Amino acid sequence: MKKQQPDLMDKVISLAKRRGFIFPGSEIYGGLANSWDYGPLGVELKNNIKKLWWKMFVQQRFDMAGLDAAIIMNPKVWEASGHLKNFSDPLVECKKCHERFRADSLPTDQEDSFWKCQKGGKHEFTEARQFNMMLKTYLGPVESEGSVVYLRPETAQAMFVDFKQIIDNYQVKIPFGVAQIGKAFRNEITPGNFIFRTREFEQMEIEYFVHPKDAEKYFEHWLGEQKRWVTAIGLDESKVKYVEISDEDRAFYSKRSVDTEFVYPFGQKELYGIAYRTDYDLSRHEQASGKNLKYKDPVSGEEYTPHVIEPTWGVDRTILAVLLSSYTETEARSGKDDAVHETEVTLKLPKELAPIKVAILPLSKKDELTIVSMDIAKKLAKHWMVEHHTSGSIGKRYRRQDEIGTPYCLTVDFETANDKSVTVRDRDTMQQERIKIDELVKYFVKKLII
Ligand code: GAP
Repeated sequence: MKKQQPDLMDKVISLAKRRGFIFPGSEIYGGLANSWDYGPLGVELKNNIKKLWWKMFVQQRFDMAGLDAAIIMNPKVWEASGHLKNFSDPLVECKKCHERFRADSLPTDQEDSFWKCQKGGKHEFTEARQFNMMLKTYLGPVESEGSVVYLRPETAQAMFVDFKQIIDNYQVKIPFGVAQIGKAFRNEITPGNFIFRTREFEQMEIEYFVHPKDAEKYFEHWLGEQKRWVTAIGLDESKVKYVEISDEDRAFYSKRSVDTEFVYPFGQKELYGIAYRTDYDLSRHEQASGKNLKYKDPVSGEEYTPHVIEPTWGVDRTILAVLLSSYTETEARSGKDDAVHETEVTLKLPKELAPIKVAILPLSKKDELTIVSMDIAKKLAKHWMVEHHTSGSIGKRYRRQDEIGTPYCLTVDFETANDKSVTVRDRDTMQQERIKIDELVKYFVKKLII
């Protein structure tokens, strides 16, 4: 039976911490507001998400070029892109307690507990002013106006700035895309909701360059690709909504935007986005740099500034939506009264995302079993991330693997020496199969490679 909200968020946060997926950053020093570290299983889950994305949108297509650009770029980039002027949120400050909030997300209900000021009475806000979200630092030993640089607020700009390098040095023809995965930084006024809104996060972005006449067609194509992704990562599709963004709410560079929103326990909010950035960025960089960023069609000879469709995905929000969608509770009944004695948790992660693919669990710590089980673990580890565990009852070890979403558990028992076989248990069907040790790699290739 699947348990529902409202405490789903707390349960997921608690599981993430307890099982080493995600924990508060710098915790021994009291933490740092809204910074989170991905632990041993979190980093596996994150890498698997990035690997799957790269496989679907770079490796398995023949119209894509990958990129891994520097986080700190020449500040002229941000001047040309408009971020220095426009990348801001409206900020208000309470005149009494000096807390700051985003003016566009204040609760309208004046009775909401939000409005209570710690200095007494209700908050009294200043007029809203625009607050630029770019994180600033200095490059080199002198902290002067001339050494100011910014941590990129989106990975996108490098894909425009490097456009000429790519068309000159890599064999691409329009339509084609540039894909990048990497960190982005925003000095958010109100971060929160676990990893939903943080000041340091990761994006997976594509800038897809097209002839202007084809822009609408490719916008629809990429919307379809985002839907395909949502299915591939096993999100609860009843909680996924596609929302056309109105003129007033669109980013300053976009002519059309559709957000993929997810119904999180704290409300329906953005998960991904897709924007029609027109020729805005390439034209601005062409103007500011004085370099020709036009594309010359090799067949027709037509020279033009390509238009851009930008589908964008947040890695951290993907992780949150995946954890929320895959968290499942079952009530374990036992005893004469068949009463509920325990609630068992399973993360029903898609196999491709599961941090650990196979757990190898010898029934006892005796050498006669662990020598064989370790040998199996080493063989499987050449292909997949596996764990080998000897401590605790087999029931407890199964339970832990279910909680971290391991699709297969393999037990080595006292029969193994005779029949050269082990028992493999499937997380979702709970079915157990006896498999020959020599055939394990072949067996898991069939089960795990999609
Ligand atoms: N290049 C376009 C761009 O950056 P965006 O909607 O501002 O568009 C893209 O960001 C994605 O990055 C969002 O859909 C979201 O998944 C993620 N994202 C944005 N701000 C974030 C934050 N403060 N914390 C975590 N993820 C964030």
